[in-house]
Formats: sequence, structure tokens, C-alpha cells
Amino acid sequence: MAYSEKVIEHYTNPRNVGTLNKDSKSVGTGLVGAPECGDVMRLQIEVDENNVITDAKFKTFGCGSAIASSSLATEWLKGKSIDEALTIDNMDIVEELALPPVKIHCSVLAEDAIKSAINDYRVKNGMEPFELAKSH
Ligand code: FES
Ligand code: FES
Repeated sequence: MAYSEKVIEHYTNPRNVGTLNKDSKSVGTGLVGAPECGDVMRLQIEVDENNVITDAKFKTFGCGSAIASSSLATEWLKGKSIDEALTIDNMDIVEELALPPVKIHCSVLAEDAIKSAINDYRVKNGMEPFELAKSH
């Protein structure tokens, strides 16, 4: 199976690889695993006092599509409010990266990581977590 050019481009030149201070109140951390393959993704956001995401970092121990999905997700997250970030759907990632059906769960991992990072931030800052359950 061939990776799309965009996947290869993100895979060879991933954006925003790294770590933010998970103990900071302004940082939300999402750590998720894919039951399909055991790949693991950590995605972190830094949020300002207006609930706008000013920075995003990821580390993914997984396949090329998972790395590309999380790299793309961090690019999309920067500058969005946490509410806007919740509207990022894994199928947007599938479309942007032209992922084939067997790689759709790699993009689900990115969406789940975004949502779990936002929830971590919300809980840290005294907001209600929203319902994470979404069946793909
Ligand atoms: Fe092989 Fe994800 S299944 S890296
Ligand atoms: Fe499992 Fe990509 S995350 S194959």
C-alpha cells in the first residue's frame, strides 16, 4: 500500500514534535492508544486565558499515518479556541492526507488525542469535561 505524498511529507518532516509541561495549568495532555494496532499518541495543547490554543506538540509511537495525522492536527490546532478545536473531525484528516480505509483508525487516534487533551485542560481549569465517547 502506498502512502500519499502528504503523509510522506508530514512523516519525513513532522511539525511540532515535542513535549509541553504537563504539570502546567495552561497545558492539556491527551494520551491515547489504538486498540487496532497498539500504536500510542500523545498530544498536548497550551491554552491562553481566552481559551485559545497558542501551542501544540505531539509524540507518536506509531505508523506513518498516525505520525502524519498528529503532525497535521497540531498545525490545525494552533490559533483555534478549544471549542473550535472540538470540531476537528477525523474524516477531515482522512481527506487532507488521503488515507486509505485501513488507515482511518490512525486519524481517529488524532481526533481522540485532541479531545482528550482538551478535556484534561478543562478539568484542570475547573470546567466540566465533555462526553468523549464517539463511536467511529
Ligand atoms: Fe504497524 Fe501501526 S500497525 S505501526
Ligand atoms: Fe495503527 Fe496507524 S495507528 S496503523
